[in-house]
Amino acid sequence: MRFSIAISSLAALSPAVAYPASNDASLKSPLPGASPGCANDTSSVRREWSTLNKLERLSFISAVKCLMSKPSQLPHDEAPGALNRYDDFVATHINQTHVIHSNGIFLSWHRHFLHLFEKALQDECRYQGTLPYWNWPWWASDLHHSPLFNGSPTSLGGDGYFNASSPPRSNGNYTFPRGSGGGCVHSGPFANTTVHFKNTKGIPSTTPADKLTYAPHCLSRDLNNLIASKYCSQARVDGILESSNIGTFQSLLSDFVPDTDIMGPHNGGHYAIGNNMQDQFASPSDPSFWLHHAMIDLLWTVWQAKDPKQRQYALQGTVTSLNKPPSQNATLTYQLDFGYLDAKQEVWKLMDVQRDIYDYSYEYAEGVAQPEDYDH
Ligand SMILES: *[C@@H]1O[C@H](CO)[C@@H](O)[C@H](O)[C@H]1NC(C)=O
Ligand SMILES: *[C@@H]1O[C@H](CO)[C@@H](O)[C@H](O)[C@H]1NC(C)=O
Ligand SMILES: *[C@@H]1O[C@H](CO)[C@@H](O)[C@H](O)[C@H]1NC(C)=O
Ligand SMILES: *[C@@H]1O[C@H](CO)[C@@H](O)[C@H](O)[C@H]1NC(C)=O
Ligand SMILES: *[C@@H]1O[C@H](CO)[C@@H](O)[C@H](O)[C@H]1NC(C)=O
Ligand SMILES: *[C@@H]1O[C@H](CO)[C@@H](O)[C@H](O)[C@H]1NC(C)=O
Repeated sequence: MRFSIAISSLAALSPAVAYPASNDASLKSPLPGASPGCANDTSSVRREWSTLNKLERLSFISAVKCLMSKPSQLPHDEAPGALNRYDDFVATHINQTHVIHSNGIFLSWHRHFLHLFEKALQDECRYQGTLPYWNWPWWASDLHHSPLFNGSPTSLGGDGYFNASSPPRSNGNYTFPRGSGGGCVHSGPFANTTVHFKNTKGIPSTTPADKLTYAPHCLSRDLNNLIASKYCSQARVDGILESSNIGTFQSLLSDFVPDTDIMGPHNGGHYAIGNNMQDQFASPSDPSFWLHHAMIDLLWTVWQAKDPKQRQYALQGTVTSLNKPPSQNATLTYQLDFGYLDAKQEVWKLMDVQRDIYDYSYEYAEGVAQPEDYDH
C-alpha cells in the first residue's frame, strides 16, 4: 500500500524500518573470523537525499568537492586521467568494468566500492555524514524538480544544456526517446565541472585501450523522465524485492537485453541521467552515481534481510561481465580486486552490512511514497 508521509514522521519511523534488523546470533557467517557489528549505531544510517536537511546535503557536496581537490594517489603512468583523489575511484571502476557488471560479484564489488568512497569522504575530508541514496520512484516522474537534480545549491546539479545534436541513447539498434539536456551541467554545485576520463558510448565488446588516459570534458547530463518513470518505478522496486532467489533479483535489477528496450532500474537510472552517467566505464564521474548505487545496495540489503538464512550469502553468476570470456562461478572465497583503493577482499566479507568490516543500515520504509514537505 502506498501512502504519503510527512518527513518529520518518516524520521520518527526510522528505528522500526532501518535495515537490516538481522543481528540474529544464530545467523553464522559460513566462514570463521566473522564478528557482528554494532547494529543500533544510528551514526551509520544511510538516508534518502531529500531527508537530509540543507546543511547535511551541503556537507556531502563539500566533502565530494574536497575529494576532487585532493591529489590522486594512483601511479600517474597507470592512470594519466586521474588528476585528483575522486578520479582514483573513477579510474578503479573503469579498470574493473569488464569483471564487475552483469555477473555474480556485481553486488558485492559495488557495495565495497561505495563503502570505500564513503570512508574516503569521512577519513580524508572530515565528512560526518553517511552516503545518501536516491529513492528512484520518489522522483522518477519529475527529475528536474527533484531535490537531487533541481540545480539548486543543495542539489547535485541540474540537467545539461539542451543540445539538439547530442546523440540519443541507444542499445544496439534500439534507440530510446531523447531527454531534455545533452550538454554541460550548468546549474548547482557541479556546474562547469570538468571530468577527466573519456566518455565511452554504448557497451563495447572489448575494454577501450585509452580508458585511463586524460580526456577532459564537461560533466554533462540529459535528464529523461520517460526513462526514469518506466524503469525506476515503484512497481519495479516492488518486483525486485519480491524476487524469490538471487538470480531473479539480479536479473530484474540489471538485465539489459541488447537491441531491445528491456532493462532494469540499474541501467534505467544510468540512462535516465544520461551522458556521463550512461558510460558503463566512467559513470562514477557523475556524483549522482554514488546515490544511484546506494539505492541498489539498499535493495540488496532489504531483500537479504527478508530471509537471511537463505539470502545473506546467496550467489549466482560468474566473475566476468555477461560471462565473457567464460569464467568460474563466483564463490564466497573469491577475491575481489579494488586496485589501489584497498586490499583484495573475499566475497563473503562483503555480504552482510552489519558484520565484519561493515556497520551500516538504511533508513527505508517499503512502499512509502515521496514526502510532500521535504526541506527544498
Ligand atoms: C538494538 O535495538 C533493539 C531494539 O530496540 C534491541 O532489542 C537490541 O538489544 C539493541 N542491540 C544492541 C546491540 O544494542
Ligand atoms: C552538442 O553535441 C554534439 C554531438 O555530441 C557536439 O559535437 C557539440 O559540441 C555539442 N554542442 C555543444 C554546444 O556542446
Ligand atoms: C536489431 O538487432 C536484432 C538482433 O541483432 C535483429 O534481430 C533485428 O532485426 C535488428 N533490427 C533492426 C531494425 O535492424
Ligand atoms: C560556467 O562557465 C561559463 C563559461 O565560462 C560561465 O559563463 C558560467 O557563469 C559558469 N557557471 C557557473 C555556475 O559557474
Ligand atoms: C556454476 O553455477 C551454475 C548454476 O548457477 C551451475 O549450473 C554450474 O554447474 C556451475 N559451474 C561450476 C563450474 O561449478
Ligand atoms: C588496472 O588493472 C590491472 C590489472 O589488474 C592492474 O595491473 C593495474 O594496476 C590497475 N590499474 C589501476 C589504476 O587500478
